[in-house]
Amino acid sequence: MRITVKSTLLILASALMLQSCGGGQVSTVGSDQETEKRIESILSRMTLAEKIGQMNQVSAGGDVASYAEALRKGQIGSVLNEVDPEKVNELQRICVEESRLGIPLLVARDVIHGFHTVFPIPLGLAATFDPALVEQGARVAAVEASAQGVRWTFSPMLDIARDPRWGRIAEGSGEDTYLDARMAEAMVHGYQGRTPDSTSVAACIKHFVGYGAAEGGRDYNSTFLTERQLRNIYLPPFEAAVRAGAQTLMTSFNDNDGVPSTGNAFVLRDVLRDEWGFDGLVVTDWNSMGEMVSHGFGTDRKDVVAKALAAGVDMDMMTFGFISHLEDLVRSGAVSEKAIDNAVRNILRVKLLLGLFENPYVDVEASRAVQYAPAHLEAACRTAEASAVLLKNDNGVLPLDSGEVRRILVTGPLADAPHDQLGTWSFDGEKDHTVTPLAALRERFPGKVDYVPGLRYSREERERFDDVVAAARRADVVIAFVGEEAILSGEAHCLSNLDLIGSQSALLKALRASGKRVVAVVMAGRPLTIERDLPNCDALLYSFHPGTMGGPALARLISGDAVPSGKTPVTFLRTVGQVPMYYNHNMTGRPYNNERLLKDIELEAGQTSLGNTSYYLDSGAAPLFPFGFGLSYTGFAYSGARLDKDAYSPSDSLSISVTLSNTGKYDGAEVVQVYVRDLVGSVTRPVKELKYFEKVWLKAGESRELSFSIPVSELAFWGLDGRKKVEAGDFLLWVAGDSATGEPIPFKVL
Ligand code: BGC
Repeated sequence: MRITVKSTLLILASALMLQSCGGGQVSTVGSDQETEKRIESILSRMTLAEKIGQMNQVSAGGDVASYAEALRKGQIGSVLNEVDPEKVNELQRICVEESRLGIPLLVARDVIHGFHTVFPIPLGLAATFDPALVEQGARVAAVEASAQGVRWTFSPMLDIARDPRWGRIAEGSGEDTYLDARMAEAMVHGYQGRTPDSTSVAACIKHFVGYGAAEGGRDYNSTFLTERQLRNIYLPPFEAAVRAGAQTLMTSFNDNDGVPSTGNAFVLRDVLRDEWGFDGLVVTDWNSMGEMVSHGFGTDRKDVVAKALAAGVDMDMMTFGFISHLEDLVRSGAVSEKAIDNAVRNILRVKLLLGLFENPYVDVEASRAVQYAPAHLEAACRTAEASAVLLKNDNGVLPLDSGEVRRILVTGPLADAPHDQLGTWSFDGEKDHTVTPLAALRERFPGKVDYVPGLRYSREERERFDDVVAAARRADVVIAFVGEEAILSGEAHCLSNLDLIGSQSALLKALRASGKRVVAVVMAGRPLTIERDLPNCDALLYSFHPGTMGGPALARLISGDAVPSGKTPVTFLRTVGQVPMYYNHNMTGRPYNNERLLKDIELEAGQTSLGNTSYYLDSGAAPLFPFGFGLSYTGFAYSGARLDKDAYSPSDSLSISVTLSNTGKYDGAEVVQVYVRDLVGSVTRPVKELKYFEKVWLKAGESRELSFSIPVSELAFWGLDGRKKVEAGDFLLWVAGDSATGEPIPFKVL
């Protein structure tokens, strides 16, 4: 299938949405005529070697002296992983004062969910369903990182992940395109700042594209996404981030349908540049240009260098391919200097927009003062609170009644593991600044907390838990912190079994047998398969890896000082064998219809059929918890959901009203979600798709009439004719607190 992409109307519409820059051009990254003039002026003075130098990114390492000469000669355009402000100043000084053209350096770092003050992992950020909070967190990260000279972060990761075996599910927003797109915009605005200044950090949207669909959930593996899947599911978050002004983009490691992303001209040129008009900087992933040789997509490094440039790569991260071969390739005529000029323009544009030419240095003294600022810790705490998802709470075990509770047993391998609660990609987080749940609970419940770890780390195997059980018997309530350490998720850290690892399930079982109330808190980088653990706890709070302030945030939730409001950003499975299972799957010809499970029937000899619909005999058709699910200490009721009309034209907006009531005893927040099903399409459509959400705070007992508006154009998709449009017909809409409940409201698009 090949979809024709150059729909004039589409391009026109997107052009109108973009900010205009000089000379009738448009710039997605906010460039203007003045900036473009400066770019041309610098470019006109550059030698070919200096141009190629700008396209070279290297990792800092060791002493500045080791690469000072290369900087002086203009052979490096960007350095990653230097965060010492004094060294950054020295690097900048060499570039600005000692290189021929004085072009400042772009200093980059993986600031993925906070710099020193670490916020919850991105999957946890998505669980907040609160873009404003996520934007604030990215702003904090930018303020801290820029103070030390880092002006480019390799974040946000926008890879849709429908397979929790993939370790990098921790780094993204989960399985949903719409949620991912909203988080993408929030992070871009947060890093870059709504008004650019010296705290602006260029965002890098990654990994382009499809990387999260790695076969078998094994990192770096091939993907086989059709163009329609790319366009309907995987590309929209990137497009939203480009529209939000993301200044840079990273190619991905995977090959899709045989074409490695770093050499994929269709996505990097046709879609990104030509359709979306992106004029920011495209960087490879670490050595992903060189790895095209391992993919067998080129004979040698020279070959893949030419392929990457032709596909639209501007900067080479750590292949040293451009710097080694581009000059030869130009001289031999295999590559044009024009292509190099374009790449350099894109690089200089970002440097100019960041104001690096005017102000390349940082104030070292001041840089220390902003790290871990009280307001930053406060923001990290609020975000960690909002990211925890309450999955079970029988008999209102939580929150603990501090008047009634006399002794609390804290146990489990993650109760006091400061490094692990920071999660993957927290290079700059420090364990000495991290507050663990144990420390925070001791402070919140002075003199009442006993601590018996039970397991020193998650993988420990143990048969008996006599010490923990004895301590549990002396307590009124047990809080067990289980899950997985930071090292068990993230890049190249994939798993084929998602049950609680080691003897953690046995620990919960032993605690249950003590007869005391058991609260489980799961810290993890992915949705683990915790079905077998649910009967062994009264309450379960899923906190992902909550970051620096995870301890205080969890203590506030456990004590009722804060009320859980997170929702699952990804489907929680019963068993790893259900992978992939996600809420917005296409309608099948034989939808599941409550067929019987193996355990409910007696197998008779010769029996051949149990229902002939789409489900598993042993685990059914439903996940453990659906997408968008999460409990609160209070209750929420929806009533009177309605649309303003029965039928809409494609240029209308749906106007939705609903009354939301807080029916419980606590003030709290509910994530109101709107889902839509397109009943008939030119191609089969998802059973439901999230089209809007909003986190709404209500006082105990309060009711509020809410209204939302969704442009009908949001229902557009890439159909059989290879065009994106709204197809007329019948639709259903749900307003609900998760993806599995609510009553459908019919409407038509004419
Ligand atoms: C990762 C990227 C990261 C880069 C630089 C790579 O291994 O895939 O996400 O930004 O390293 O550290």
